[in-house]
Amino acid sequence: MKGILLAAGKGTRLYPMTRPVCKPLLPVYDKPLIYYPLAVLMQAGISDILIIAPPGEQAAFTALLGNGSAFGLNIYYTVQPVARGIADALVIGESFAGGDQVCLVLGDNIFHALTLERTLKRAAEQTDGATVFGYWVENPRPFGVVEFDETGKAISIEEKPQKPKSNYIVPGLYFYDRQVMEIVRGLKPSARGELEITDVNREYLRRDALRVMPLEKGCTWLDAGTADNLLVAAQTIKGIQEQSGRYVGCLEEIALNQGWISREQVRSMGEELNMTSYGQYLLNL
Ligand code: G1P
Repeated sequence: MKGILLAAGKGTRLYPMTRPVCKPLLPVYDKPLIYYPLAVLMQAGISDILIIAPPGEQAAFTALLGNGSAFGLNIYYTVQPVARGIADALVIGESFAGGDQVCLVLGDNIFHALTLERTLKRAAEQTDGATVFGYWVENPRPFGVVEFDETGKAISIEEKPQKPKSNYIVPGLYFYDRQVMEIVRGLKPSARGELEITDVNREYLRRDALRVMPLEKGCTWLDAGTADNLLVAAQTIKGIQEQSGRYVGCLEEIALNQGWISREQVRSMGEELNMTSYGQYLLNL
């Protein structure tokens, strides 16, 4: 399975912060935002990853993550020339996917749960159809909203509905089989001029090939798209780390657990960063 990380949002809602540095590279507490969705792909067991950056910003991503070898990954980069929507990431990533299954994650979505890795691996093991998630929020209006019947089966998905049919939203993490490319080719831009990921999910639903896995209660999901959300995300990550003593989104730790890098590699990274808590954490793994 291939991973596509859509990090093409310049972050205009975060100006002036994002004038010199695009949103995915902004800090969320002690790591750049992009670390968190990248960690999700890695926990799903995905090591071939295409990062889609905003035009003109690729060099900053490369400076941060290189070719991925420090994390046992193969990272490739490309850009989204025009903001044509989330589903456009699949058009851009089609040749990279090369007919394989794909997992698409949004560059400003943060997930944390003790059991997340197991949930992600279960989703990645499915060989046909699509798997997305359902997460309860107080205000579902700004998101894709999924409605379930009494047996827990998804029966509708709507993008940013005026009158949401439930409080369950579909976060920015999607697992698709190979039919996704054919589905994306048939999409028409929505009223806001974008290729909507919700339309992809609706087509899977129409084909009776969509699984919606509810994320359990203890799961944290954060969308770090505004200054307030960024602050809440930073405070939440700090709180989780202090309480559990474990880091969220520590790429070296995940790579080590996956058997993708050696203890020596982690130690040498820890020594390089030993003036920071992050470096100390690596040295204590
Ligand atoms: C996008 C999707 C929406 C999803 C959300 C998750 O919204 O369109 O379905 O629930 O991401 O972050 P957007 O970021 O385009 O407002």
